[in-house]
Amino acid sequence: NSLRQIGEPLMKWYQENKRVLPWRDQNNAYYTWVSEIMLQQTRVEAVKPYFQRFMEELPDIEALARCPEEKLLKLWEGLGYYNRVRNMQKAAQEVMEKYGGQLPRNYELLRELKGIGNYTAGAIASIAYEIAVPAVDGNVLRVISRVTENGGDIRKQSVKRQIEEELREVIPREKPGDFNQALMELGAVICVPNGQAKCQLCPIREFCQAHAHGREMDYPKKAAK
Ligand code: ADE
Repeated sequence: NSLRQIGEPLMKWYQENKRVLPWRDQNNAYYTWVSEIMLQQTRVEAVKPYFQRFMEELPDIEALARCPEEKLLKLWEGLGYYNRVRNMQKAAQEVMEKYGGQLPRNYELLRELKGIGNYTAGAIASIAYEIAVPAVDGNVLRVISRVTENGGDIRKQSVKRQIEEELREVIPREKPGDFNQALMELGAVICVPNGQAKCQLCPIREFCQAHAHGREMDYPKKAAK
């Protein structure tokens, strides 16, 4: 299984190339949560100023839980998909009631909070709490489907689950958050869609099945809608 070999070169590449982002290297689960929710439909560069302002106005979960709706929507104005922030506030209120204002250090409990799915629970658990669970977003699906030549339709839950399971077995116990972010970052800047992949710069090309067969562009497979 070629996935077993990617850890070391991937982590080395990440250490040398990771972008400096305002929510990185803070070890604050609330920062990780807010940034990951903002990043779900919005690019990194666009998120930066929103994130900074959000944290100035609502520096912790308690402030988010208590924020008047009008102010909350104002802070989100321009990001769109307002249910994201509404759900986040509901979850913050639940965290206040059930967990004394601290996001639980547990993947399954995170997963139960409103608006937190497999991806966000995995991102918070691994990045903020160093728990070795995968965080599979669209970038990661693309990278892994190429490395393993997985021909499944990545829109299918079953294919996402399969990739999560494969990653669960190879994710390092040490720095799982960096491992997950390295995969996301690789997908965002090197292993990009639409024939633009920069394989010559890729730290794991020698372990990539699709690259070995010159078939990077055949993955990920997406069946017609
Ligand atoms: N996209 C969404 N979350 C990210 C993260 N933590 N690092 C890099 N890209 C991301």
